[in-house]
Amino acid sequence: MPMKSLRYGFRFALLVAAVAFVSQVFAETFAPRATGYSGQLGQGIGLFLPDDLPLDRLPPSLALVSRPAPTGPLAAGWRVAPAFSFGEKQVRATVAVPEGTSLYGTGEVAAPLLRNGVNVTLWNTDNFGYKSHEGRRLYQSHPWVLAVRPDGTAFGVLADTTWRTELVLDGKIEFTSDGPSFPLIIVDRESPQAVMHALGELTGTMALPPKWALGYQQSRWSYNPDARVREVADEFRRRRLPCDVIWMDIDYMDGFRVFTFNPKEFPDPKGLNAYLHERGFKSVWMIDPGVKADPGYAVYDTGTAADVWVRDAFGATFHGPVWPGDCVFPDFTRPETRAWWSALYKDFMAQGIDGVWNDMNEPAVFNSEPRKTMPVHNWHRGGGDLPAGPHARYHNVYGLLMVRATREGILAANPDKRPFVLTRASYLGGQRYAATWTGDNYSTWDHLRLAIPMTLNLGLSGQPFNGPDLGGFGKAPTADLWAHWVAMGTLFPFARGHAQKSEPQKEPWAFGPEVENVARVALERRYRLLPYLYTLFHASSLDGQPIMRPAFFADPRDPALRTEDRVFLLGDDLLVVPKWAEKPNLPRGLWRTVSLVGENSTTDKYQPDLKLRGGAIVPLGRVIQSTAEESLAPLTLLVSLDAQGRASGQLYEDAGEGFAYREGDFLLTTYEAVQKDGAVTVSVARSEGHRARPARPVVVQLVTDAGTVTAEGTDGQPVTVRLPSP
Ligand code: GLC
Repeated sequence: MPMKSLRYGFRFALLVAAVAFVSQVFAETFAPRATGYSGQLGQGIGLFLPDDLPLDRLPPSLALVSRPAPTGPLAAGWRVAPAFSFGEKQVRATVAVPEGTSLYGTGEVAAPLLRNGVNVTLWNTDNFGYKSHEGRRLYQSHPWVLAVRPDGTAFGVLADTTWRTELVLDGKIEFTSDGPSFPLIIVDRESPQAVMHALGELTGTMALPPKWALGYQQSRWSYNPDARVREVADEFRRRRLPCDVIWMDIDYMDGFRVFTFNPKEFPDPKGLNAYLHERGFKSVWMIDPGVKADPGYAVYDTGTAADVWVRDAFGATFHGPVWPGDCVFPDFTRPETRAWWSALYKDFMAQGIDGVWNDMNEPAVFNSEPRKTMPVHNWHRGGGDLPAGPHARYHNVYGLLMVRATREGILAANPDKRPFVLTRASYLGGQRYAATWTGDNYSTWDHLRLAIPMTLNLGLSGQPFNGPDLGGFGKAPTADLWAHWVAMGTLFPFARGHAQKSEPQKEPWAFGPEVENVARVALERRYRLLPYLYTLFHASSLDGQPIMRPAFFADPRDPALRTEDRVFLLGDDLLVVPKWAEKPNLPRGLWRTVSLVGENSTTDKYQPDLKLRGGAIVPLGRVIQSTAEESLAPLTLLVSLDAQGRASGQLYEDAGEGFAYREGDFLLTTYEAVQKDGAVTVSVARSEGHRARPARPVVVQLVTDAGTVTAEGTDGQPVTVRLPSP
């Protein structure tokens, strides 16, 4: 370590300590600072910079997909602009919020859907049970707010900074950052959906996942040894409970050393994966960032030789304890580190592994209370686009940079497969690399209810592919509570049951035969809905819309829907009304209750009431045990006419895996229903893509106020349903 950087590191540490001390004694005072540059980035998108940040000096952005390139001055009549102000060591951007405006987004926060009055600390934090900081500081940071005005028009505010930031939403939107000046991007469009579209243009959209990732997934910390994994998989098939994925938590590793397998408990991972594949399962295996500091262990040795570890303020390798004990941490800001990390996945994936779970990547470091992570003055060396900087600058993007490298690694290992990565830590834009879940929740009623607004607001922050630990991670649920969890949780975009090591079993059969039946109906409902869900995932990969949507998306002008966070929408066409939701505010218009697997969703004790929008056609598949089976034989079209006697809907299909869809190997069908003279005819209005329409039967189920009428035919040919005479 050269003396110069040692001295630099020491001085830097002193400076950070002094600043931290001073900040505890004096509150900042902020002086106004003029906006320097402002300009138009796209339709309804404005860029604003404080006067000390010239346009040609913008720091590289990890949230945005491309460097902001303004096309000219702001459009005439532009109406939302920030005020910048500077304190001694903080920078602030404030945006006024018109009376009656509802605020959403703000990423992962344990709070109701409506975020007015909720203050958030954007600082990725391992927060078991959402216990500390009242759950207002969790595993991910999304410096983004969606604001919906009383007239249903909307704007969005994006603060492009990775530094620790306080977000205050008390009558204004205010970002106060510990870092240097940052760009503010404001979207102003005609609806919340149009603002979400802009967020997708700015920060990118989720890549289309493999179809199996939409199936139900079963996890536990941990299923071990391998015989237990086979047993759990066999139980699903024996009991005819649909399931696609079994998850391997940390105990498969050899002493928690990442990229190793416990020789006693998992001697043959390839054989285990083959066993699962033969039975229609995929497998996802966990990899954490902390690498055991253990000379002789290949990952540690090659990482040390390639000089990849994060350094402390004095220039020495930083060490901290995680599961394996003393660990070192890859510095993912370095391109060399990312290349080394990506390459580790080649042999790993060759074991027949299908997906990767990156956990603890805030990064979580034990025994560092109350910080729970590495010191802010640790040093990242950067490279390529990224400048060197302290951990304070890169903390919030540590997980994002990690999963970017993971995704690249598994894509290089299996170039013909769509990568699936699940991450716990993330940052605005993280949807480009990984799906996510909401960390260590509890098996409690509070957390069951909270799962809806948390998932909705992550969706409204650009991350459509997310969900909670279904059933709750910590604590033991009653059978009744778990039944409610599974009935609701199978309707989330990401549906994975998980449980903490110390808790009792939480598989669908663990609570007795009655609850097992509840789970079977809930799982069968999800599997029937998969063609609709896959169509939504595909659309979301193009337009950035959430998959699970707040009720107010059905009518952004209806004030009663603004706070409704017990019922939710799947896409635009299905409304999910949980049984425990008392007097929910439902969108106006025609919403007809539907039954998917013979359940009576109005009277069923656990299954949420499912309502189909008047004017919608929703494609359904058969009940299958996993996505390895053909689902669309027959294809069912669930139809509900609007007041004009019309309906339409789409079905997206492709190989479910691989990238041929990008070359046109897909079929996107728009179906239309028209009522005429006591009959309704459903036909193909439009087809896109090169994929041939399979020769298959189609069943049309027309849901009317007087009951459901059915007709059969062949897909591609018009099918006519006679309406019951009044
Ligand atoms: C963390 C994860 C949890 C996992 C556990 C053990 O707590 O959030 O999902 O089971 O670590 O790996």
